[in-house]
Amino acid sequence: MPSKIFSAAIAGLNARIIEIETDVTRGLRHFEIVGLPDKAVEESKERVGAAIKSSGFRSPHQQSQRVLVSLAPADLKKEGSLYDLPIALGYLSASSQIRFNPEGKIFSGELALDGKLRPVKGALSLALATQEKGWKEIILPKENGPEAALISSLGKNEKNSEKIRIIGLGTLREVISHLEGRIKAKPFETDIKNFLEKPNYPVDLGWIKGQESSKRALEISAAGGHNLIMEGPPGAGKSLLAKSLPSILPDLSFEEILEVTKIYSIAGLLPEEKPLISYRPFRSPHHTSSEPALIGGGNPPKPGEITLAHRGILFLDEFPEFHRDVLESLRQPMEEGKITILRARNHLTFPARFTLIAAANPCPCGYYGDPQRDCTCTQSQIAGYRRKLSGPLTDRIDISIKVPQLKFEKLTSIDEENSSAKIKERTEKARQIQKERFFNDPLNKFGARQEENKIFTNSEMQIPQIKKYCKIDQKSESILKRFVDSGKLSARGFHRVLKVARTIADLENSEKINYNHIAEGLMYRIREN
Ligand SMILES: Nc1ncnc2c1ncn2[C@@H]1O[C@H](COP(=O)(O)OP(=O)(O)OP(=O)(O)O)[C@@H](O)[C@H]1O
Ligand SMILES: [Mg+2]
Ligand SMILES: [Zn+2]
Repeated sequence: MPSKIFSAAIAGLNARIIEIETDVTRGLRHFEIVGLPDKAVEESKERVGAAIKSSGFRSPHQQSQRVLVSLAPADLKKEGSLYDLPIALGYLSASSQIRFNPEGKIFSGELALDGKLRPVKGALSLALATQEKGWKEIILPKENGPEAALISSLGKNEKNSEKIRIIGLGTLREVISHLEGRIKAKPFETDIKNFLEKPNYPVDLGWIKGQESSKRALEISAAGGHNLIMEGPPGAGKSLLAKSLPSILPDLSFEEILEVTKIYSIAGLLPEEKPLISYRPFRSPHHTSSEPALIGGGNPPKPGEITLAHRGILFLDEFPEFHRDVLESLRQPMEEGKITILRARNHLTFPARFTLIAAANPCPCGYYGDPQRDCTCTQSQIAGYRRKLSGPLTDRIDISIKVPQLKFEKLTSIDEENSSAKIKERTEKARQIQKERFFNDPLNKFGARQEENKIFTNSEMQIPQIKKYCKIDQKSESILKRFVDSGKLSARGFHRVLKVARTIADLENSEKINYNHIAEGLMYRIREN
């Protein structure tokens, strides 16, 4: 009798159910897998054969029989070694060596030659997708148990009155014993609270002396998720300021934690002992990074830095040193909050809603416009450098500031008033206001499957939201109009000032955007002046 077993494939951040049918007939020895398998799936035959033999069963390689394994749907490329376990069980069942009821069960896991189960990537996505669709049990390697069981913090699903059971086991033999009812495996449960730790931030904003206006700009960026560029001479403290940003970012919501954790799970970057990313990522790729490293790609496709920075910070230090094409490739994801990677048969989408923080010197030597030191660059060097600074990407940056070199007296005066903890309290409150604003907004309902389109912060507002939430008074309108009419502010720039002003008002818990908020917002568009 042919057997039918279920597994799941990871596509982008989500999982799709894969049906594995196995047929065993008498005949010349033959073992074939159909349904767009990649090389790793092809090689599964060898691992499965050896693992079955070491587990004390008869392997397909030992008999005169034809084994046909069919993976459906046929149009989806099957990648990786996670089908080893279901293929092995499908064969054992079709050749009548074991007997169990596969209904409601999902299997995933790589097999070692000795029959041990090896962990797979994307276990959380798999658990989320199958729980949502009403499956009853997932059987996977025990190392993946704690991660998959993160969904136990989610509560019951809609279709089932019961939660999906997460069964993590060590070997093929254990799986069979569990399926045939000889052992009772206890489902994994993970209490998300056990993993919510306070990270140790490398820099506290309170340690940085002076730089009041830069710190203020960072606070606004953190509160509303606004992209920010800072420009200043060497040693002014730009890198230091950027590194202090994580310490004032609002905490991730539970929803965001799952989103970010899914990404790190699929990238294979989740620490085994703590399968959760509970704070906002901070990624700082080097300026020599390639385009695929930054935006994602490869085969099988891996998320790039912009996706690893999702809901967190992408810090591009020495911004003008990045290759022009690489910077260009950031444009579209920055507009859309996601990246679509073209593949032979499927398009893959990874989320990429990050806050860009860029740092730059004013010129290659760093002293252009410095009152104390002379710039040693040629005119054309300066022009080339500044072209990169004022490219299409910088039009997507809400806040633009100059970080001055501080005088010696300033550096010795200590300011402990504005520690990161204090600032974080404010950004947290402002983010809460935004969350409530957008959570209840009918404009923000894109359906459950489109979670990556949901808006959480002011910086993500599109025109309809800006119209709705950024109403301004006459006086503000006339000053903005003056800037636009004189060509100092573009249409995009105009909207960006409104968004930043919205965040400044939220930091003051003010429902109205007033003239001062607009004036401060305008200050952060110095590049256009
Ligand atoms: N405001 C400040 N308070 C305390 N220390 C500071 C301040 N500004 C600079 N420093 C010190 O100067 C060092 C250099 O700062 P940083 O590396 O951030 O400068 P930078 O602007 O990134 O320079 P570059 O353009 O060369 O990259 C810091 O590591 C820190 O020790
Ligand atoms: Mg630096
Ligand atoms: Zn110079």
